[in-house]
Amino acid sequence: MRIVLLGPPGSGKGTQGDLVRDRYGFPKISSGDLLRDAVQKGTPLGRKAEACMNRGELVSDDVVVDMIQERIARPDCRNGYILDGFPRTTAQAERLAGIEHERNEIVLDIQVADQAIIQRLSQRRICSGCGAIFNLSADAGREVAKCRGCGGRLVRRDDDDPEVVRRRLEVYHAQTKPLAEYYSRKGVYRRIAGEGTVAEVFGRVIQELELRAPELSPVEAES
Ligand code: AP5
Repeated sequence: MRIVLLGPPGSGKGTQGDLVRDRYGFPKISSGDLLRDAVQKGTPLGRKAEACMNRGELVSDDVVVDMIQERIARPDCRNGYILDGFPRTTAQAERLAGIEHERNEIVLDIQVADQAIIQRLSQRRICSGCGAIFNLSADAGREVAKCRGCGGRLVRRDDDDPEVVRRRLEVYHAQTKPLAEYYSRKGVYRRIAGEGTVAEVFGRVIQELELRAPELSPVEAES
């Protein structure tokens, strides 16, 4: 099983990906998280990626495809995995199609209007410890300086600067949106309305997944 989460920046791919991971037990592979980790560690890959990411532009297809290919070859992906933020271009999608092409694939495109995205990303904070995603407006009135899960410090992503968000949206419309047509032609594409609460969107996600892959079953919650 390969679940691909498409959608503009800030549409909720990471948030929904975490919920899908927790429900079905598949690892969530976020190309953005892998790249940010490489930047933070100062690896050669991170040094190549950093300037593009800070401008809100895409990192080169070759760099990203190699990184993802290496990650999905690991044993925890044997039964399936969730891709968040990859593929992002038709070239990436074509390369992905050549990797494990026998896997059952479902592509969910979470769609949110640009104006709502700008609002959401201005309020996003990420836990520097565990990577959990928060939103200041949704968490208003609570203690939001620290992660509710691990107590880590909450930080703003560098590319959530409003100017960079605008550039990320332009790049999305030009380079990633055409993937809707690419996957529609393959018959694996479903559009998900991304407005509403996180729980409402998750309900739509589960409905699509379980309709298209009835073999999916929730993992037992750990006690
Ligand atoms: P990446 O990290 O992938 O960023 P992105 O796609 O722009 O998406 P985001 O992570 O910003 O948003 P999201 O959709 O996950 O939303 P989230 O759940 O956090 O990429 C970053 C950069 O890396 C790229 O610009 C590029 O440079 C590079 N890169 C990455 N992949 C690449 C690739 N394949 N090829 C080339 N370059 C690549 O939610 C956003 C906010 O909204 C949060 O605060 C959340 O709490 C809130 N929220 C979520 N759902 C809801 C809801 N239903 N209602 C209200 N608020 C909500």
